[in-house]
This record gives sequence, structure tokens and C-alpha cells, in this order.
Amino acid sequence: MNIVITGASKGIGFEMAKLFSNDENNTVVAIARSGQLLKELKNACIRQNLKNKLKTIVFDLEETQSIQTILIPEILKYVNTVDILINNAGVLINKPFHDFELSEINKLITVNFISHSILIKELIPYIESGFPKHVVSISSMGGFQGSSKFPGLSYYSAGKAALSNLTECLAEEYKNNGIKFNCLALGSVDTEMLRKAFPDYKSITTAADMAQFIVDFAMNGYKYFNGKIIPVSSTTP
Ligand SMILES: NC(=O)c1ccc[n+]([C@@H]2O[C@H](COP(=O)([O-])OP(=O)(O)OC[C@H]3O[C@@H](n4cnc5c(N)ncnc54)[C@H](OP(=O)(O)O)[C@@H]3O)[C@@H](O)[C@H]2O)c1
Repeated sequence: MNIVITGASKGIGFEMAKLFSNDENNTVVAIARSGQLLKELKNACIRQNLKNKLKTIVFDLEETQSIQTILIPEILKYVNTVDILINNAGVLINKPFHDFELSEINKLITVNFISHSILIKELIPYIESGFPKHVVSISSMGGFQGSSKFPGLSYYSAGKAALSNLTECLAEEYKNNGIKFNCLALGSVDTEMLRKAFPDYKSITTAADMAQFIVDFAMNGYKYFNGKIIPVSSTTP
């Protein structure tokens, strides 16, 4: 399978890229800003399976103007169809609503929502030629209607809610193309992002455990779900 994962340099994305790469039939295209961390991912995949087909691309998703002109041609150097796209990259800024600068609001909405929407749009022709044609977007319980909310996470949560909603809209719009769109609203996972959001909180879910769940869902969930926003959380937060 050909799998594209954003935000693969650390945390959950890193673990997902490793899991998918362990199968040498998979070509995994891993995207993030940090070339150094992507090199560490490459080394981890080599240690795990010498025949892995992990490809890495250093790209800042905040540069939305360059997704079509730079990122897509880079991806197409490695794969000519996409079977699974995982929109996992995310950024969190934790501060009171009143104190947000416009540049911070733009960053949160651009990385957590707009970049994913453009990547989906640009990759749709290649996903249409793939199988199982599954687009999995990684949202948060903070962006899930009716869930507990936390001060400081207003724009992060609102951006995640937009990504969740987009999933429902695209499932309807592309229902005749065979593409399945689902969104996983994650609860707490022990990563750098969580430590930043909740410094005194320790999650019982590891990045590796959550990655295993998402990988299984990406490979099988398309059979049972389309246009769904699924809470994946056993605790609050
Ligand atoms: N951990 C949790 O408790 C939790 C809960 C709910 C939802 N989530 C969601 O799960 C996803 C993964 O989070 P995580 O906990 O694994 O976070 P993480 O460890 O902070 O990893 C975030 C990933 O996103 C990448 N990224 C950030 N900004 C980027 C940009 N501008 N362009 C390209 N890549 C960018 C980072 O790579 P670079 O820095 O190298 O670019 C990194 O690989 C996120 O969408 C997050 O919102 C996490």
C-alpha cells in the first residue's frame, strides 16, 4: 500500500510511520518540518526492517501556497497512487483566548485545518486510483461536540472541530468516488503535545498504542465507517 502521513517526525505520527513501514510492501511517505527527526525515523525503520520503503519529505504545512507546487510533486516522486492518507500533523498553543495574537490564530487554523484540506484536495485524484481510498484525519476530543473543554485550548479545539466537520462534508461530496473519510477525535496520548497542554498530567495511553489503533483503523475502518467522527478516549482529558 502507499501511505502518506503528515506529522511523522515525532509522537503518534512517528509511531504510525514505523508500524506501516515494518511491512516492506508498504511505501510510506512521512512529512514533517524537522529533517533531523525524520532522519531518526528513517534509522528506526531501518533497524526494524532493512527492506522498509519509508520516504521522508521535509515540509512546513504552514506554507499552504507551496502544497500544490512543492509538496505534491515531492510526494509523486515516490508514489503514483495513494491508498491511505493520514492527516496527523498538528500544533497546539495553550493560552487564554484574550491573549492570542493574530499570527498565532493563523498558525493554529492553517496547520490544523487549512493545510489538511488542501492536501486532501490535491491528493484526491491519486486517492481515487488507490485502494482502500481511506482518508483519516486526526482530531481531538477538544473539538468534539459535547466533550469536556479546557481553558487555553480555544483555537486549537476550534481548528480540530473544523477538521472533523470537513470529514462529514467530504464523505457526502465524494460518496460516489469510493473515497472514505473518517475522523478520529483523540483523547490524551503521552506525547510532547500533551505535556505542553497539560504539564501536570500523565496519560496512560502511549504514542505507540494509539498509533497501533489508528493504523488498524486506517487499514480496516473504511469497511464499516464513512463520514464519521469517532471519539477515541478512555479518560478526560
Ligand atoms: N497527544 C495528545 O494527547 C493528542 C490528543 C488529541 C489529539 N492529538 C492530535 O494527534 C496528532 C499528533 O499529535 P502528537 O501528540 O503526536 O503531537 P507531537 O508529538 O507534537 O507531533 C506533532 C507532529 O506534527 C508535526 N507538525 C507540527 N507542525 C507542523 C507543520 N507546520 N508542518 C508539518 N508538520 C508539522 C510535527 O513535526 P515537526 O515539528 O517536525 O514539523 C510532529 O511530527 C495531532 O494532530 C494532535 O493534535 C494529540
